[in-house]
Amino acid sequence: MTHLRPQPLLAPSILSADFTRLAEALAFLGSAPRCVAHVDVMDGHFVPNITIGMPVVAALRKETRLILDCHLMISDPARYALEVVKAGADWVSIHQEADPHAHRTLAAIREAGAKAGIVLNPGTPVETLTDLVGSFDFVLLMSVNPGFGGQKFIPQVLSKLERLEALRAKAAEPFLIEVDGGVGPGNAEALVRAGADVLVAGNAVFNAPDPAAAIAGLLAAMDRGKITN
Ligand code: DX5
Ligand code: ZN
Repeated sequence: MTHLRPQPLLAPSILSADFTRLAEALAFLGSAPRCVAHVDVMDGHFVPNITIGMPVVAALRKETRLILDCHLMISDPARYALEVVKAGADWVSIHQEADPHAHRTLAAIREAGAKAGIVLNPGTPVETLTDLVGSFDFVLLMSVNPGFGGQKFIPQVLSKLERLEALRAKAAEPFLIEVDGGVGPGNAEALVRAGADVLVAGNAVFNAPDPAAAIAGLLAAMDRGKITN
Protein backbone atom coordinates (compact mmCIF):
# COMPACT_ATOMS: atom_id res chain seq x y z
CA MET A 1 0.00 0.00 0.00
CA THR A 2 1.34 3.44 -0.92
CA HIS A 3 0.68 6.22 1.54
CA LEU A 4 0.93 9.86 0.55
CA ARG A 5 3.60 11.61 2.57
CA PRO A 6 3.18 15.23 3.68
CA GLN A 7 5.73 17.95 3.10
CA PRO A 8 8.53 17.29 5.62
CA LEU A 9 8.61 19.32 8.83
CA LEU A 10 11.48 20.49 10.99
CA ALA A 11 11.28 20.07 14.77
CA PRO A 12 13.91 22.31 16.38
CA SER A 13 14.65 21.02 19.86
CA ILE A 14 14.43 23.75 22.47
CA LEU A 15 16.87 21.72 24.57
CA SER A 16 19.57 23.64 22.72
CA ALA A 17 17.85 27.03 23.15
CA ASP A 18 18.69 29.53 25.90
CA PHE A 19 16.55 28.31 28.83
CA THR A 20 16.29 31.85 30.21
CA ARG A 21 14.65 32.92 26.93
CA LEU A 22 12.30 30.13 25.92
CA ALA A 23 9.51 32.54 24.98
CA GLU A 24 11.87 34.17 22.48
CA ALA A 25 12.84 30.77 21.09
CA LEU A 26 9.16 29.92 20.55
CA ALA A 27 8.46 33.28 18.90
CA PHE A 28 11.41 32.68 16.60
CA LEU A 29 10.15 29.20 15.65
CA GLY A 30 6.66 30.60 15.14
CA SER A 31 8.02 33.04 12.61
CA ALA A 32 9.91 30.31 10.71
CA PRO A 33 8.25 28.09 8.10
CA ARG A 34 7.26 24.43 8.67
CA CYS A 35 8.47 24.13 12.26
CA VAL A 36 7.07 22.33 15.28
CA ALA A 37 8.66 22.77 18.71
CA HIS A 38 10.41 19.64 19.96
CA VAL A 39 10.37 19.43 23.76
CA ASP A 40 12.71 16.93 25.42
CA VAL A 41 11.37 15.70 28.78
CA MET A 42 14.03 13.74 30.73
CA ASP A 43 13.81 12.22 34.19
CA GLY A 44 17.39 11.40 35.19
CA HIS A 45 16.37 7.74 35.39
CA PHE A 46 15.55 6.48 31.91
CA VAL A 47 18.27 8.80 30.64
CA PRO A 48 21.20 10.31 32.54
CA ASN A 49 19.91 13.88 32.40
CA ILE A 50 17.04 15.95 33.84
CA THR A 51 15.48 18.68 31.74
CA ILE A 52 11.91 19.88 31.37
CA GLY A 53 8.78 18.85 33.29
CA MET A 54 5.07 19.55 33.29
CA PRO A 55 5.10 23.16 34.57
CA VAL A 56 7.44 24.16 31.78
CA VAL A 57 5.35 22.38 29.14
CA ALA A 58 2.30 24.27 30.44
CA ALA A 59 4.21 27.56 30.31
CA LEU A 60 5.31 26.87 26.74
CA ARG A 61 1.70 26.14 25.81
CA LYS A 62 0.59 29.57 27.05
CA GLU A 63 3.24 31.19 24.91
CA THR A 64 2.71 29.59 21.49
CA ARG A 65 0.26 28.04 19.05
CA LEU A 66 3.03 25.92 17.52
CA ILE A 67 2.67 22.16 17.69
CA LEU A 68 4.39 21.03 20.91
CA ASP A 69 6.12 17.73 20.18
CA CYS A 70 6.89 16.28 23.62
CA HIS A 71 9.45 13.48 23.60
CA LEU A 72 9.23 11.66 26.92
CA MET A 73 12.56 10.17 27.88
CA ILE A 74 11.21 8.90 31.17
CA SER A 75 10.68 5.60 32.92
CA ASP A 76 7.07 4.48 33.31
CA PRO A 77 5.71 7.01 30.78
CA ALA A 78 2.15 5.77 31.35
CA ARG A 79 2.26 7.51 34.71
CA TYR A 80 2.77 10.96 33.20
CA ALA A 81 1.61 10.85 29.58
CA LEU A 82 -1.88 12.17 30.27
CA GLU A 83 -0.54 15.01 32.39
CA VAL A 84 1.68 16.00 29.49
CA VAL A 85 -1.36 16.11 27.21
CA LYS A 86 -3.24 18.17 29.81
CA ALA A 87 -0.28 20.53 30.04
CA GLY A 88 -0.79 21.23 26.35
CA ALA A 89 1.31 18.81 24.31
CA ASP A 90 0.00 18.10 20.81
CA TRP A 91 2.26 15.15 20.07
CA VAL A 92 3.44 12.85 22.86
CA SER A 93 6.00 10.13 22.25
CA ILE A 94 7.00 7.35 24.63
CA HIS A 95 9.97 5.00 24.45
CA GLN A 96 9.25 1.40 23.52
CA GLU A 97 12.02 0.38 25.98
CA ALA A 98 10.36 2.22 28.89
CA ASP A 99 6.86 0.79 28.68
CA PRO A 100 5.86 -2.89 28.67
CA HIS A 101 2.29 -1.76 27.93
CA ALA A 102 2.97 0.67 25.11
CA HIS A 103 -0.20 -0.36 23.29
CA ARG A 104 -2.32 0.80 26.22
CA THR A 105 -0.39 4.02 26.81
CA LEU A 106 -0.54 4.99 23.12
CA ALA A 107 -4.31 4.44 23.15
CA ALA A 108 -4.64 6.63 26.25
CA ILE A 109 -2.64 9.44 24.62
CA ARG A 110 -4.89 9.32 21.56
CA GLU A 111 -8.00 9.15 23.73
CA ALA A 112 -6.83 12.32 25.49
CA GLY A 113 -6.67 14.08 22.11
CA ALA A 114 -2.97 14.09 21.23
CA LYS A 115 -0.99 12.34 18.50
CA ALA A 116 0.77 9.30 19.93
CA GLY A 117 4.33 8.41 19.03
CA ILE A 118 6.54 5.44 19.79
CA VAL A 119 10.29 5.99 20.13
CA LEU A 120 13.05 3.48 19.43
CA ASN A 121 16.54 3.77 20.86
CA PRO A 122 19.36 3.08 18.39
CA GLY A 123 19.64 -0.56 19.53
CA THR A 124 15.93 -1.41 19.38
CA PRO A 125 14.97 -3.09 16.08
CA VAL A 126 12.17 -1.60 13.98
CA GLU A 127 10.67 -5.08 13.73
CA THR A 128 9.47 -4.72 17.36
CA LEU A 129 6.87 -2.31 15.97
CA THR A 130 5.23 -4.78 13.60
CA ASP A 131 2.41 -5.68 15.94
CA LEU A 132 1.88 -2.13 17.18
CA VAL A 133 1.17 -0.66 13.72
CA GLY A 134 -2.20 1.06 13.83
CA SER A 135 -1.83 2.11 17.45
CA PHE A 136 0.53 5.05 16.91
CA ASP A 137 0.52 8.16 14.74
CA PHE A 138 4.27 8.43 14.39
CA VAL A 139 7.52 6.63 15.04
CA LEU A 140 10.51 8.53 16.37
CA LEU A 141 13.83 6.88 15.56
CA MET A 142 16.65 7.93 17.86
CA SER A 143 19.83 8.49 15.91
CA VAL A 144 21.89 9.14 19.06
CA ASN A 145 21.62 7.61 22.51
CA PRO A 146 19.02 9.80 24.23
CA GLY A 147 19.99 12.20 26.98
CA PHE A 148 21.93 15.07 25.47
CA GLY A 149 21.91 17.46 22.56
CA GLY A 150 24.88 17.97 20.28
CA GLN A 151 25.87 14.31 19.80
CA LYS A 152 27.08 12.67 16.62
CA PHE A 153 24.59 10.96 14.28
CA ILE A 154 24.83 7.14 14.38
CA PRO A 155 25.06 6.20 10.67
CA GLN A 156 23.48 2.72 11.02
CA VAL A 157 20.17 4.48 11.66
CA LEU A 158 19.92 5.23 7.94
CA SER A 159 19.47 1.56 7.01
CA LYS A 160 17.14 1.16 9.99
CA LEU A 161 15.06 3.99 8.59
CA GLU A 162 14.90 2.22 5.23
CA ARG A 163 13.60 -0.90 7.01
CA LEU A 164 10.98 1.17 8.80
CA GLU A 165 9.95 2.70 5.48
CA ALA A 166 9.51 -0.82 4.07
CA LEU A 167 7.38 -1.75 7.08
CA ARG A 168 5.29 1.39 6.52
CA ALA A 169 4.81 0.58 2.84
CA LYS A 170 3.12 -2.68 3.86
CA ALA A 171 1.13 -1.20 6.75
CA ALA A 172 -2.63 -0.83 6.51
CA GLU A 173 -2.53 2.47 8.40
CA PRO A 174 -0.15 5.33 7.67
CA PHE A 175 2.17 6.89 10.22
CA LEU A 176 4.80 9.59 10.19
CA ILE A 177 8.49 8.95 10.74
CA GLU A 178 10.57 11.36 12.84
CA VAL A 179 14.35 11.15 13.30
CA ASP A 180 16.06 12.66 16.34
CA GLY A 181 19.73 13.19 17.12
CA GLY A 182 22.73 14.55 15.26
CA VAL A 183 20.62 15.83 12.39
CA GLY A 184 22.17 18.62 10.33
CA PRO A 185 22.76 19.93 6.83
CA GLY A 186 25.00 16.93 6.03
CA ASN A 187 22.33 14.26 6.51
CA ALA A 188 18.89 15.96 6.26
CA GLU A 189 18.47 15.26 2.55
CA ALA A 190 19.38 11.56 2.86
CA LEU A 191 17.09 11.11 5.86
CA VAL A 192 14.06 12.49 4.04
CA ARG A 193 14.94 10.45 0.96
CA ALA A 194 15.01 7.32 3.13
CA GLY A 195 11.57 8.04 4.56
CA ALA A 196 11.70 10.68 7.32
CA ASP A 197 8.82 13.17 7.49
CA VAL A 198 9.95 15.13 10.55
CA LEU A 199 13.54 15.90 11.50
CA VAL A 200 14.50 17.05 14.99
CA ALA A 201 17.46 19.43 15.14
CA GLY A 202 18.75 21.10 18.29
CA ASN A 203 22.39 21.96 17.91
CA ALA A 204 22.13 22.52 14.14
CA VAL A 205 19.50 25.24 14.70
CA PHE A 206 20.07 26.93 18.04
CA ASN A 207 23.84 26.83 18.04
CA ALA A 208 24.15 27.98 14.44
CA PRO A 209 25.57 31.48 13.88
CA ASP A 210 22.33 32.38 12.08
CA PRO A 211 19.48 30.12 13.27
CA ALA A 212 16.99 31.44 10.69
CA ALA A 213 19.43 30.65 7.88
CA ALA A 214 20.06 27.24 9.45
CA ILE A 215 16.32 26.45 9.35
CA ALA A 216 16.08 27.62 5.74
CA GLY A 217 19.10 25.48 4.80
CA LEU A 218 17.72 22.39 6.53
CA LEU A 219 14.29 22.78 4.93
CA ALA A 220 15.89 23.20 1.50
CA ALA A 221 17.96 20.03 2.03
CA MET A 222 14.83 18.18 3.16
CA ASP A 223 12.95 19.31 0.05
CA ARG A 224 15.72 17.98 -2.16
CA GLY A 225 15.33 14.61 -0.44
CA LYS A 226 11.59 14.76 -0.94
CA ILE A 227 11.75 15.60 -4.64
CA THR A 228 14.01 12.68 -5.43
CA ASN A 229 12.17 9.98 -3.50
C1 DX5 B 1 18.45 13.79 22.71
C2 DX5 B 1 17.17 14.52 22.41
C3 DX5 B 1 17.22 15.31 21.18
C4 DX5 B 1 18.24 16.40 21.15
C5 DX5 B 1 18.69 16.57 19.73
O1 DX5 B 1 18.28 12.93 23.75
O2 DX5 B 1 16.09 13.63 22.29
O3 DX5 B 1 15.94 15.82 20.81
O4 DX5 B 1 17.78 17.62 21.64
O5 DX5 B 1 19.74 17.44 19.70
P1 DX5 B 1 20.77 17.50 18.50
O6 DX5 B 1 19.99 17.87 17.28
O7 DX5 B 1 21.71 18.56 18.95
O8 DX5 B 1 21.41 16.14 18.38
ZN1 ZN C 1 14.17 14.45 21.40
